[in-house]
Amino acid sequence: RPQWKVVNLDKLTYAGNLENLTDLENDPQHVFVRGDIGNRELVDHVIRTHQIDSIMHLAAESHVDRSILDSAPFVRTNVVGTLVLLDVVKARGIPRFLQISTDEVYGSLGPEGLFTEETPITPNSPYSASKAGGDLLVRAYQHTHGLPALIMRSSNAYGPYQFPEKLIPLMISNAFAGRSLPVYGDGMQVRDWVHVEDFAEAVLAVLERGRVGEVYNVGGGNQLPNLEVVGSIVRLCEASPSLIQYVPDRPGHDRRYAMDHSKITRELGWKPSRDFTTGLAETVAWYRANAEWVARVRSGDYQAYYDTQYASRLAAAKPAR
Ligand code: TYD
Repeated sequence: RPQWKVVNLDKLTYAGNLENLTDLENDPQHVFVRGDIGNRELVDHVIRTHQIDSIMHLAAESHVDRSILDSAPFVRTNVVGTLVLLDVVKARGIPRFLQISTDEVYGSLGPEGLFTEETPITPNSPYSASKAGGDLLVRAYQHTHGLPALIMRSSNAYGPYQFPEKLIPLMISNAFAGRSLPVYGDGMQVRDWVHVEDFAEAVLAVLERGRVGEVYNVGGGNQLPNLEVVGSIVRLCEASPSLIQYVPDRPGHDRRYAMDHSKITRELGWKPSRDFTTGLAETVAWYRANAEWVARVRSGDYQAYYDTQYASRLAAAKPAR
């Protein structure tokens, strides 16, 4: 993609961080614009000014626990924001629109089976309901208005620069700080972890070569119970296993996600290339080497969120068995 110009539109809410873009500061192919996808005038202005010909829509409120505390920002950005983008794409005749979504729109799996692109949409959390709302609008605009849209749905991503509200960076940063590791419920919920670089390759594959109107599932082929992931983090961080605390479960907690990614492999030649053991060890090493980044990210608003989310849970915790 040597000739591409990328315009990065980001509202910089709590998890957005310009510090993560310092490598691109002097890159003439990257332009940063601070703004909200829900602002139609701004989106239209950016599209005209930069003659945009493809949109990768990755802007979202993404944390399930926050959606349980307050759902409205999820509907505003993930549903209404997506609608604004679709209306501008329609009005301006943009040739390609890629919606980035999640396996969570498919609901929860029992002990067997995988989500395919044909699995019915049955979201369980306010977060996944808002992503499903966005996906359904994309589908409807494609069907009704012939918009050149595609959808990619991914399992849980992990890797460097992830905001430490998500399981893996939260457990790594707590383990390094000698703080409790709050495992929800019995810790036997299963997630299918995909490395962020594999995720990024999948986004490009679908954007460049996917068939319009299609959905592509992406997964890491790593189906691990949370407790096993947390156990590996404890070992890699050389922390004490006694930090593990079983805390009251997340309401409505989905038991298992696992993706069948055979369609994107067959049609576009993408498959996950990072093995989880190596990827997790590298991620722990990144957080170890970037302790100052972690400290800055965890100061300020993060602490207030952490207390709201965890103080009473930890007070009701049971230590590791
Ligand atoms: P999370 O990273 O929030 O992703 P998602 O809920 O979107 O899959 O959580 C991953 C799993 O880890 C999920 O089963 C919830 C669990 N979890 C904990 O047990 N403790 C925690 O503190 C967090 C943040 C998550």
